[in-house]
Formats: sequence, structure tokens, C-alpha cells
Amino acid sequence: MPVRAFQWEDGRLRLLDQRTLPNREVWLDIRSYEQAAGAIREMAVRGAPAIGIVAAYGMALAAQSGVPRETASALLAAARPTAVNLFWALDRIGRLPVWSFETVLAEAQAIEREDLEMNLRLAKHGASLVPQGARVLTICNTGSLATAGHGTALGIVRTAHAQGKLRHVYSCETRPRQQGLRLTAWELLKDGIPFSSIADGAAAWLMAQGEVDLVVVGADRIAANGDTANKIGTYALAVAARHHGIPFVVAAPSSTVDPATPDGRSIPIEERAAEELTEVEGVRVAPAGCPVRNPAFDVTPGSLLAAIVTEQGVFRPPFLFQT
Ligand code: MRU
Repeated sequence: MPVRAFQWEDGRLRLLDQRTLPNREVWLDIRSYEQAAGAIREMAVRGAPAIGIVAAYGMALAAQSGVPRETASALLAAARPTAVNLFWALDRIGRLPVWSFETVLAEAQAIEREDLEMNLRLAKHGASLVPQGARVLTICNTGSLATAGHGTALGIVRTAHAQGKLRHVYSCETRPRQQGLRLTAWELLKDGIPFSSIADGAAAWLMAQGEVDLVVVGADRIAANGDTANKIGTYALAVAARHHGIPFVVAAPSSTVDPATPDGRSIPIEERAAEELTEVEGVRVAPAGCPVRNPAFDVTPGSLLAAIVTEQGVFRPPFLFQT
């Protein structure tokens, strides 16, 4: 069975709680737009495309209970600031001529369906960049759990594996939330794709040993000039890849491209709670009073990218995305 992060069923959204994976597969019942916003904020669902789709279903739940469109949209938009897919989906729902449950639900379902189609297309384009026998390094989780299915960067990995090109995946642990260690490892094991999880700090060393042929990552927002916000640690990977002459590729559906944002300086970077660093599985590991900075994303300059892959094809620098 393919991995699914959510499913609309009997008037509610069933959501696989990504906070308890891989140890427990818990399905949440999301019955209101407030619960949808909470699930995004608390990262029961995460990954840019998945956040957008769940927000769209949250709008359907609001319409179902007669909540004004603006009220629901404002709360959902405040859930997380960096992934533009959230605002893209809310904007799409906001432009519907009719505010009715049936119309909004149909649009949410279309957004979900289109995301899967975009991922399958972009994965084919991206796989053309994967050399035979490649060892590919990635970060965070960009797979089925982060999307409507197949995934973006991990979708390229899946397609390259199906084409018999892939030798090995190095999956960064992705501190502090460990999306790589908990979620990407879970997906890759299910698919039987050969991989090793690595500590984030091991990536540059493996590159120096000649063990990485290509880096492929996802995106939360791609500015008009190609500057790309993605999970914290992505920028360091891009700098290390450039130093070692390894191509660095960003993969995302066009819903992640934000031509209205001119460059990376205009992308809001989410800062999350200190406890994500100071605690591991609820156990405090830092001394009491330890000061913390916890930016959840960073921006990789477009100049460090070999390519940006969307469902529309492979884009090479210099990038200029237009509305
Ligand atoms: O904080 P997260 O887990 O939502 O961050 C996710 C990422 O950074 C992903 O790389 C990005 O959203 C793309 S998911 C296809």
C-alpha cells in the first residue's frame, strides 16, 4: 500500500500523525478548520505541499460549518510562515466564486489530485539528472508524507530507483525534528530503496570521500531569482556540494515557486520553540536556562543550484520565475 499522509472520508479529514512515526501509526480525525490549523502548527502534518492541501481541506471544514471564509483563512494562514504552498492553496480557495462546502471540497480534492500529478511529472524530469549508479544525498522528508504522494526530491529518488539508476541514498537525520531519520527512513524502508541515514554533520565528510554524486532537496518557497527556502541545514549542504563540485538540485511543484517574492531576503523564516533543541523525546538534554536559536528553515542562494526541477521541466541558472 502506498504511504498516505491524509484522506478525506465521511465529512472529516483523516490525518496520519507524523509526530509519532515511525513508532506508532496514529490517525487523527480533523473535523474543524481550527483543528486543521493546529495540526499544521504542531507539525502533525508537515512538508510544503501537504500543508497546503490540509489547509484547503480545513477551508472545506469551515465552509461545512458556516464559518466566514476570511475567518478560517486568517487562522490557517497564521499556522506556519515559510511554505508558500499554504498561502497558494488559501488564495486558490479564496478566489472561488462560491463559498459552499461542495465547491470548496471539490477544489481541495483538485489541489490534492494535481499535487500527485505534478510530483509524478517532476520526478521524471528530475530522474533525467541522476547519473547511472548514483549515490544521492537528501535532507528532511520530501516523500509521500510531505505531499499528496510520490514526493518531490524523494519522488526523484523513487523514480530513479525504479529506472535502475540509483546505487544508494544518504538521508540526513535533519535535526532538530529528525524528519530524515524518522520519516524518510520509514518511507525508504517500505520501498526497499538502499539507503543509509547519516548525522547532518556527516554530509560534507561523505562528499569529501567521493561518496556523493548528487544532492537533491525539496523546497518550501522558491523566490523569483531561484533563492530557495528549505529545511535548516540545506544551505550548508549546498555550500559543501559547491566546494566538492557536486551538483545540487532543488525539486518542487510549481505551487512552491513564488514569483511575487523577488529574492531570499523577502522569505519569512520560521523560528520554532527552544524545546525542539533542548529536549529529545520530551527529556531535557540541555542545561536549564540554555539560550537557543531555532530557525526551522534557511535560504540557499539560486547561484549555488545546478537546477530547479518542477513539473514543467528542468530550469538552469540564472533563474527568473515570472507570474
Ligand atoms: O518543517 P517541515 O518538516 O515542514 O519542513 C519540510 C521541508 O523543509 C521540505 O523539504 C519541504 O517542505 C518540501 S516537502 C515536499
